[in-house]
Amino acid sequence: MNAREVRVELGERAYTVHIGPGALLSVPAEIRKRLGTTPRRAFVVRDSGVPAVFFDELAALLSDAELAVSSIELVPTEQSKSIATLERVLAAMASSGHSRADPVVALGGGIVGDLAGFAAASYQRGVPVVQCPTTLLAMVDASVGGKTGVNLRVANDTGDRLLKNFVGAFHQPLTVAADTRVLMSLPDRHRRAGLAECVKHAMIALGITGADLMSETRAAMPGVLAGEEDAYGRLIERSVALKGEVVRRDERESIAGLGGVRMLLNLGHTFGHAIETIPNLSPNPAYPELAPLHHGEAVGLGLLAACRCAERLGMCEPGVGDEVLGILDMIGLPSTVRDLPDTDEVRSRMGADKKAAGGKLRLVLPEGRGRCRVVTNPDETAVAAGIDAIRG
Ligand SMILES: NC(=O)c1ccc[n+]([C@@H]2O[C@H](COP(=O)([O-])OP(=O)(O)OC[C@H]3O[C@@H](n4cnc5c(N)ncnc54)[C@H](O)[C@@H]3O)[C@@H](O)[C@H]2O)c1
Repeated sequence: MNAREVRVELGERAYTVHIGPGALLSVPAEIRKRLGTTPRRAFVVRDSGVPAVFFDELAALLSDAELAVSSIELVPTEQSKSIATLERVLAAMASSGHSRADPVVALGGGIVGDLAGFAAASYQRGVPVVQCPTTLLAMVDASVGGKTGVNLRVANDTGDRLLKNFVGAFHQPLTVAADTRVLMSLPDRHRRAGLAECVKHAMIALGITGADLMSETRAAMPGVLAGEEDAYGRLIERSVALKGEVVRRDERESIAGLGGVRMLLNLGHTFGHAIETIPNLSPNPAYPELAPLHHGEAVGLGLLAACRCAERLGMCEPGVGDEVLGILDMIGLPSTVRDLPDTDEVRSRMGADKKAAGGKLRLVLPEGRGRCRVVTNPDETAVAAGIDAIRG
């Protein structure tokens, strides 16, 4: 196994992220190291998109470690990332005889990881969870840091809205196994979408660890797009190290003005969430059937909107947005989208985002290359300029 390891330093909740081909092999030893001999069972929440061979391998590894394996398979969509699905998972755990000592193991993309993590956080007030991310996005971002949860559908006078990740809990994993072999079956579109979160990390890294991830990300791209395992491994390692450091400094996303840095990870997400749940938006106007946007595609557009908004505010030099645009183009991510609703409608969706607490809109905006800060109630014309910049 070509092992790369990143340690997320969180005191008694510290854990190791194993990265590379064969990282799944680390799971049983980590469970026994962290939980001792008490667990008798493991409950695997399994993503229907992951080839069966990886579930079979994981189940065999857990059985060899004398853990009785039960599982549930989920077809992940933002609509099914819901309280109803959470209830199904919890009920299946209860019927399998899952005890408070036994771990949940998430084998899947970000949706399955968030759902399984929240099931683990809430089952009998909390059982351990192991994250085995199977998409690039989940490897570089969702599986690390302990945010778990589901979406909430609410109705108001403007119709039904899906509030993203509105219900959830912080629940750090026991360990993370990012086995890069599973990426080989990941559809190209999801691979590109995952890279948007790497660009996001690059846009804040200089201000946090001093690493010039913008240059590294650009340099890594040819190898990554050619599917070279080592290029992936290194990129994942860099992103996880950055995210791990952010989480170490600010585990529960405190208010930015009080010294919190985790909020910076929401860069691009307030714009992104506002457009992600609009059903008819396609990443390529020539192919409307590709709608809706994937999470990473919406985040990529959100990153660009944030840059243009910051440029309009005069808080960052011109050129920051163009560099981001260049990387998105290189990756093959959309930088504009057709059929975007009018600016007021998109703006009102941003207002409904949970990050707009207490009636205030808080946007993470770049203040330079590799550096961002939180801006409260930015000038509305600049917000509109951000939205209009991604209109195709
Ligand atoms: N918790 C966090 O900190 C955090 C951070 C970022 C994103 N997220 C969440 O993550 C979700 C997006 O995650 P995602 O981009 O992984 O999407 P996803 O979970 O929807 O997975 C994408 C698709 O890939 C399939 N798939 C998964 N692994 C595969 C594999 N190895 N081979 C083939 N197909 C595979 C899935 O079945 C699905 O159809 C969003 O709901 C977002 O809110 C959470």
